[in-house]
Amino acid sequence: MTLPNVHMHKHPKVQSFFDAQSNTISYVVQDPDSTSCAIIDAVMNFDYASGRLSYDSADEIIAFIEQEGLTLDWIIETHVHADHLSGAPYIQQKLGGKIGIGEHIQTVQDTFGKIFNEGTEFQRDGSQFDALFKDGDSYHVGQLECFALHTPGHTPACMVHILGDAAFAGDTLFMPDGGSARADFPGGDAGQLYDSIQRILSLPDEMRLFVCHDYGPGGRAIAWETTIGAQRAANIHVGDGTSRDAFVKMRTERDAQLAMPQLIIPSLQVNIRAGEVPRDEAGNMSLKVPVNKL
Ligand SMILES: [Fe+2]
Repeated sequence: MTLPNVHMHKHPKVQSFFDAQSNTISYVVQDPDSTSCAIIDAVMNFDYASGRLSYDSADEIIAFIEQEGLTLDWIIETHVHADHLSGAPYIQQKLGGKIGIGEHIQTVQDTFGKIFNEGTEFQRDGSQFDALFKDGDSYHVGQLECFALHTPGHTPACMVHILGDAAFAGDTLFMPDGGSARADFPGGDAGQLYDSIQRILSLPDEMRLFVCHDYGPGGRAIAWETTIGAQRAANIHVGDGTSRDAFVKMRTERDAQLAMPQLIIPSLQVNIRAGEVPRDEAGNMSLKVPVNKL
């Protein structure tokens, strides 16, 4: 349960971008002491009915970075998303930066390599990414020392990233009234998710926490910023000392009711390749639909 020596006196500016199709919030995080920045969880738009890609969400982020005169150091994926396609390679092509994800991507690639019957040319060693983070690894955005914490449960490769006094939850916790992420995808585990969340909750109370998704429960306006203290006190799934057994029971029952995300099939095939769309023998971008596998 060791936690890094976080830098609570560093207060990076955080700009959010909301993707309404997948209810994803992407972030640009700026080093307070330089013009460097990082992107957390960028989206590439995909219309499933027509099989057509578009880049409005990514272009909005690119325009912001250019307008602010920032240098992009990192493009972080908190995990292999199942609900949207990653915009990382499109942004990297325009602005540079390194694409990083958790080292357990290898497990996720192995699992979905089988489900999608990928050939031997699909590497399962994470080599599609520029960096694979281990638990507790640090890296820099400009002068700012940042940390990656391994937080499995939703998926085996999930990580929470800490940049100064701001933590990026990925799919672990949602807003306090939204609870927690599901744990029923292949490789998911509700008990592991509980343990990961306990680790997050032991970060400093005043640390800002930015969530990856919000669905506006009860009709409230979409929100994405909370604090560790607010989560510990009031998160509807884990707040106020909820036990591991109670959480696992609740999570398992709830997950059994949830439909698969609309874009899970295209998202996984693209995101296990660091956001690159697979190609057929003729070299055309093409996706599979495995039947009765998910
Ligand atoms: Fe996710």
